Amino acid sequence: SASGSSSTTGAAGGVKRLTVFGAGLMGAGIAQVGAQNGLKIVLSDVTDQALQNGLNIITKSLSRVAKKAQPDDIEGFTKTVMSNIETTTDAAKAVEEADLVVEAIIESLKVKRDLFGFLDTKAKDSCIFATNTSSLSVTEIAEACGNERQARFAGLHFFNPVPAMKLVEIIRTPQTSDETYNALREVTLKMGKAPVTCKDTPGFIVNRLLVPYMLEAIRMVERGDATPEDVDQAMELGAGYPMGPFKLLDFVGLDTTSYIASGWREKAEQGVISKELVEPIPMMEEMVKSGRLGRKSGKGFYEVS
Ligand code: CAA
Ligand code: NAD
Repeated sequence: SASGSSSTTGAAGGVKRLTVFGAGLMGAGIAQVGAQNGLKIVLSDVTDQALQNGLNIITKSLSRVAKKAQPDDIEGFTKTVMSNIETTTDAAKAVEEADLVVEAIIESLKVKRDLFGFLDTKAKDSCIFATNTSSLSVTEIAEACGNERQARFAGLHFFNPVPAMKLVEIIRTPQTSDETYNALREVTLKMGKAPVTCKDTPGFIVNRLLVPYMLEAIRMVERGDATPEDVDQAMELGAGYPMGPFKLLDFVGLDTTSYIASGWREKAEQGVISKELVEPIPMMEEMVKSGRLGRKSGKGFYEVS
C-alpha cells in the first residue's frame, strides 16, 4: 500500500473517489447516488454479467430520477451521472485510487473478510473502508485488516431502494477513529442522506426492529393465520407502513433475510440477541432453496408483473 500520510484523505471534504464492491441491489444504488452527487465512482464485481446487472439497475432508476431532476434533458442528466461511473472486475485496480471503499457484496462474514483482507494490502493507507452489512458484526469484518485500517473502518448502512431512502446508519466500532467517523458523516451528507449513529450491535437500529417483524409475519402465514395479501393490507392501512411485510420481504430478498436470521442464530448462542426472534422458519428456507428470492428472481411471495 503506497501513498501518503494517514491524516489527509480522511479529513473533512476528503472523499472524492468512492469504490463500491458488489453491483447488486445495494451496490448499484450506492454507486448511483454517489455519482449523482459528484463523486468519482468505481463499481466492482466478480463477473461482467454482474456489472451489467448493476448498470441496468442504475439506468432504470436514473430514468425516474431524471424525470424530476432534469425533465427537459433526461439524456444529458443520465449521461453526466454515468460519466462518473467506471466498472471493473479487477479488485486491486478498483481500489488503487479510492478515498473510500463501500462493500455491498453477499452477506457472508467469510466472504467479506476475504475481500477486505485483500483490499487492505492494495488500497492507499489513508483509504477508509466501510461495509454495508445488514446484520454482521462490523468489528469482526474489520479484524480482517491491520490495526491502522481498523481505525479507518466503520459500517455505512444504506437502505433499499438507495436512491429513495434517506437514511444511512453509521456504525462505529471501538476502533473507529473520530476522523473516520466525521469523514463518513460528511460524505453521507454530500450524498443527500441523513445519518444516524449506532454502536456495533446485531441489526443496528432499523434491522434490529424490522427483521424480527418480517420474520414474525412469515410465521403468521406459515401457521395459516392470514394470507400475505391480508397481512400486507393490514399493516399498510392499519399501521401506516408504505409496504406490508411481504412486499418488503420480496423487496429486500428472501436470501438476504435468511442470511441475516441464520447469522443471528449464532449470536443468540452467545446471548447477544434473543433466540425466539430468530428460530428457523421452514417456509422461508424452502422458498430460498427453490429460488423464490423475491423481486430479484422474479418471484417471492408475489410474482413481479
Ligand atoms: N430509484 C429512484 N427513485 C425511486 C426508486 C428507485 N429505485 N424507487 C422509488 N423512487 C422514488 C420515486 O421516484 C418517488 O419519488 P417522488 O416522491 O419524488 O416522486 C418516490 O421514491 C416514491 O416512489 P413511488 O411513488 O413510486 O412509490 P411509493 O410511494 O410506494 O414509494 C418506496 C416507494 C419509497 C419504495 C416505499 O414503498 C417505501 O418506502 N417502502 C419501504 C421501503 C423500506 O422499508 N426499505 C427498507 C428495507 S430494509 C433495508 O433496506 C435494510 C436491510 O439491511 C435489509
Ligand atoms: P445482491 O445479491 O443484490 O448483490 C450482491 C452482489 O455482490 C452480486 O452482484 C455479487 O456478484 C457480488 N459479489 C459477491 N461476492 C463478491 C466479491 N467477492 N467481490 C465483489 N462482488 C461480489 O445483494 P444486496 O441486496 O445488494 O446486498 C448486498 C449487501 O448489502 C449485503 O451485505 C446485504 O446484507 C446488505 N444490505 C441489503 C439490503 C437489501 O434490502 N437487500 C439493504 C441494506 C443492506
